[in-house]
Amino acid sequence: MMYKVALLPGDGIGPEVADAAVAVLEQVGAKFDLSFEFSKQLIGGCSYDKYDNPLTDETIQACYDADAVFLGAVGGHKWEALPQNKKPEAALLKIRKSLGLYTNIRPAKVYSSLLDASSLKADVLEGTDFVIFRELTGDVYFGEPRGYNDEKGWNTMIYNREEVVRIAKKAFETARRRKKVVVSVDKANVLDCSQFWRKIVHEIHADYPDVALSDLYVDNAAMQIVRDPKQFDVILTQNLFGDILSDIAAMITGSLGMLPSASIGDKYALYEPVHGSAPDIAGQNKANPLASIASIGMMFSYSFNLPKATAIIEKGIDETLKQSYRTADIFKEGDKLVSTTKMTEIVKENISKILEEELA
Ligand code: IPM
Ligand code: MG
Repeated sequence: MMYKVALLPGDGIGPEVADAAVAVLEQVGAKFDLSFEFSKQLIGGCSYDKYDNPLTDETIQACYDADAVFLGAVGGHKWEALPQNKKPEAALLKIRKSLGLYTNIRPAKVYSSLLDASSLKADVLEGTDFVIFRELTGDVYFGEPRGYNDEKGWNTMIYNREEVVRIAKKAFETARRRKKVVVSVDKANVLDCSQFWRKIVHEIHADYPDVALSDLYVDNAAMQIVRDPKQFDVILTQNLFGDILSDIAAMITGSLGMLPSASIGDKYALYEPVHGSAPDIAGQNKANPLASIASIGMMFSYSFNLPKATAIIEKGIDETLKQSYRTADIFKEGDKLVSTTKMTEIVKENISKILEEELA
């Protein structure tokens, strides 16, 4: 089986972590008789530098033509002063909208060997394993009207029924394969748009009576994630709230450098590490490739229907951490400090062993 993958390394450490992703994709894919054809494209600041446009039609077309998209990271100080629609971040929003990627899935799982890398106490954290379903193509991010002048600034928080229905279904379906518990996060005590969100989520819930549903206001949810993260399994939330909560979730697991993500629509899917472009360490072979490798793990489940491959990749990462290999972002006294490429090599060796055992 041959799959087409659009490869969008982007800016900063993006190209380095994308190399790691490709290496593991090819390694594990080969064992499952998959081969890949890559279409490498620019996105973000590097695309702006060349075309005066952070996301060209050519890049979007390559994504339309692909079975899956991998994105490294976009952005950097260099482009911060550009007008909103030229900024690297504008490319992210545009690609999400163009590909209809309405479900952003961000798992927050704590690797036992990284328990002491978190700012939370180990006993609060141990066993944390939840996933955020963040709506990704609606809300204030895209609502019209929007704008500002010398006197005022405004955005529109808006959801229509179908936008809430489709992501709610995805969250409930995933909950069925997990612990069957969904917490929907909104701000229904203040915002009409959130009242609507809550109403629709409960309507859809009627079709999933085997899944427990509760609601939390976003301020309380932020507090609860830090107070007792173990209580969560699937968190379903609006775009803006999901943006904020997923950063909190990322940080309690020890490092932003560890977390993968998948953005899924009805036709297309894009995988990217949650961390940004980290321009300060770009090109120094210091970046943590594990979030990108784990994103490839998600690609195997969601785009190629091979959850077994996902499990093997996760095990390979876990094993590597247990052997005390660390990139600088998660390094502590007594660990073995390694570069991006070295870390990737070791993960690959571990995966290789696991593949031999499991596919023997
Ligand atoms: C994220 C990022 C983006 C967002 C920015 C860079 C546009 O923070 O993916 O969480 O707000 O969605
Ligand atoms: Mg964010």
